[in-house]
Amino acid sequence: MPAEFAVELRDVVKQFVTPEGANLAAVDHVTMQIRNGEFFSMLGSSGCGKTTSLRMIAGFEWPDEGEVIIEGKPMGHTPPYQRNVNMVFQNYALFQHMTVFENVAFGLEMQRAGRKEIITRVGRSLDMVQLKGLDRRRPRQLSGGQQQRVALARALVNLPAVLLLDEPLGALDLKLRKEMQLELKALQQQLGITFIYVTHDQEEALTMSDRIAVMSLGKVRQMGTPQEIYERPSSRFVAEFIGESNFIDGRMVQISKEAAQVHVPALNMELSATPISGDLVAGEDVIVSIRPEKVQITNSINEMPNHMEGTVEKTVYIGSDTHLIIHTGSQNLKVWEQNRVSRIDPHAFYSSGQKIQLVILPENALIMKRE
Ligand SMILES: Nc1ncnc2c1ncn2[C@@H]1O[C@H](COP(=O)(O)OP(=O)(O)OP(=O)(O)O)[C@@H](O)[C@H]1O
Ligand SMILES: [Mg+2]
Repeated sequence: MPAEFAVELRDVVKQFVTPEGANLAAVDHVTMQIRNGEFFSMLGSSGCGKTTSLRMIAGFEWPDEGEVIIEGKPMGHTPPYQRNVNMVFQNYALFQHMTVFENVAFGLEMQRAGRKEIITRVGRSLDMVQLKGLDRRRPRQLSGGQQQRVALARALVNLPAVLLLDEPLGALDLKLRKEMQLELKALQQQLGITFIYVTHDQEEALTMSDRIAVMSLGKVRQMGTPQEIYERPSSRFVAEFIGESNFIDGRMVQISKEAAQVHVPALNMELSATPISGDLVAGEDVIVSIRPEKVQITNSINEMPNHMEGTVEKTVYIGSDTHLIIHTGSQNLKVWEQNRVSRIDPHAFYSSGQKIQLVILPENALIMKRE
């Protein structure tokens, strides 16, 4: 029976000694369970420990504490070539003096595979990444996107159970990057291989992943589906890192399992809101987090809960949306409106000084711990 998880990190710690002599926990008690066939992303800013985590899964580094488990087997000091994983490196690491074919064939030649088998498998791998016909070129004679595909073909040639990808699209321009995102995702679904994908691009992680681990300073801050991470961020850190949010200080008045009332001095009102953290209590100082696209502008004064009046301070037209700053109470709120109708008359848009009505639905006002 196959193991339940393709890869597990159990309470893994990796420390480095800096040139200044200090101990730095690059990975600090990380636990993750990655399912078979899953597209799993590690997302976080530079230096948060993403590459170090991948290198420990690949076997290029060993944990100081905790364990890496692949297909149910603790890896201990198992060397990279005995692990059923392959890695696409952050900078591709192609051999410049070898052709595309030789680059992709390299691993098979090391394993002393037969000539015929090498030709078949390299051909299949180049097919998968749509590089047929370019097998005699050298990396220098390829575009950035094509080099990226060679790195991918090289990692796929063994059909590993798990593919580790370290910012594989980082060097590509935005358009190619978006194309490759869709291609990679399709390839992953077609092959059924587990992908562990590292990126610092939140949109990329949201687009491609089944689940995401948001990391900072060597720790996992939240793990969940793209919807869980974006719609129910467990902390201000995650809400701020993924997308944008308005954060307003408040004090918890009343709380049950799904609903809560928060007094918000800056809005001079009590908001009906949704508690996120599990251990919030009445009387506690909290933060209310509201995504800009979830604040609704209405024309009618009505009796909805969380209804307030505001004044437009500023509007910025950005094509698909208009970004507004709206002053309400003593608070400035970021509010994004989709431009659903094609208009060019400036009077058709909101203008500075205009009075408007706002509604924030209780499910769109998330209450979190004050950090
Ligand atoms: N061999 C090493 N010796 C000392 N410190 C290291 C070593 N490798 C990594 N570090 C440090 O460990 C931390 C995590 O590094 P890591 O490469 O895992 O980050 P990352 O999340 O991949 O960042 P990036 O997005 O910039 O690639 C950083 O502070 C880095 O400087
Ligand atoms: Mg890195």
